[in-house]
Amino acid sequence: MPRVYNFSAGPAMMPEEVLRRAAAEMSDYNGTGMSVMEMSHRSKGYIALFEGVERKFRAAMNVPENFKVLFLQGGATLQFSAVPMNLLARTGKADYAVTGYFSKKAFKSSQMYGAVRAAADIGDYHRIPRQSELSPDPEAAYFHYCHNNTVYGTRWSYLPDTGTVPLVCDMSSSILSEPVDVSKFGVIYAGAQKNMGPAGLTVVVVREDLLDSPLLPGTPELLSYKAQAANGSMINTPATYGVYLLGLVLDWLEDTGGVAAMAEINRKKAALVYGAVDASPVFNCKAEESSRSVMNAVFSSGDEATDERFLKEAAGRNLVTLKAHRATGGVRASMYNAMPLEGAQKLAELIAEFR
Ligand SMILES: Cc1ncc(COP(=O)(O)O)c(C=O)c1O
Repeated sequence: MPRVYNFSAGPAMMPEEVLRRAAAEMSDYNGTGMSVMEMSHRSKGYIALFEGVERKFRAAMNVPENFKVLFLQGGATLQFSAVPMNLLARTGKADYAVTGYFSKKAFKSSQMYGAVRAAADIGDYHRIPRQSELSPDPEAAYFHYCHNNTVYGTRWSYLPDTGTVPLVCDMSSSILSEPVDVSKFGVIYAGAQKNMGPAGLTVVVVREDLLDSPLLPGTPELLSYKAQAANGSMINTPATYGVYLLGLVLDWLEDTGGVAAMAEINRKKAALVYGAVDASPVFNCKAEESSRSVMNAVFSSGDEATDERFLKEAAGRNLVTLKAHRATGGVRASMYNAMPLEGAQKLAELIAEFR
């Protein structure tokens, strides 16, 4: 079976070069006679690998010195609890921009921990609220938002201005897809399974001064950013193989020209698909143009049977996993870094031909 163009929202397509390198090193990593997944996380060889991946990640994201990078587990969803456990007690209040499926989940998860508030719920997930609609509370311990809404296909094209209130951002579906000024954030977190590797690894980038925030009572040690930072993300066994694969993905990213070059390719892919949707007499994209996601293009004919026929025709051309989330219905093309330009071209061709 040839490789398909897999438009899955996540776990998602991996760069083929990464898969080939992992396969080549599968049973003998670096002359050790063992696979990375067989190495002790406390061994010299593995610690060198782990530290190397952190260095590569910091370089790719241009992470300032005063930020810690943590390699954790539990997915972005566990961060929905970890964030309030680590930060909420600073002032007892927090703001959540509710702009889609996962930001709503993050908001709901945080409600049991204190006085959290939906700071920007405009009741319409097809656009991102404007700055004038945010009403941030200057006494909030943090302002949480989700940079790219994977399900509804929208993306924040600006950095919310919250004054001195730290920004906490779920970047699960956009991390490493475009340059980000990390210094403007308090915490950035992301599950790996879209742009960084296989599921099982969660990356958290946290500003050092926030590590001294008081923890909520009952916070497990594993969820404490301070304890994880003090133990090099190794209080217990980390996602050893996932970290290794992140390293291979970062090597591939660097070979492709880095995050800025990748952002250019991602913009081209998105322009091809949205361009075809806009020109199509069949399909329509509900996301407001200025809020459109670069990573996830969501569109529909408005008729389930027609969408199904499209998905079938796409599968016949090796364009797979295009069915949208049940919350929206229709078609969703997730085009993370590993989706080649050619995949977007082929999809755009089909959209243009489809009647
Ligand atoms: C933006 C966003 N946040 C959170 C999640 C949940 O991630 P996880 O399954 O890693 O907990 C997802 C998963 O698709 C996502 O896209």
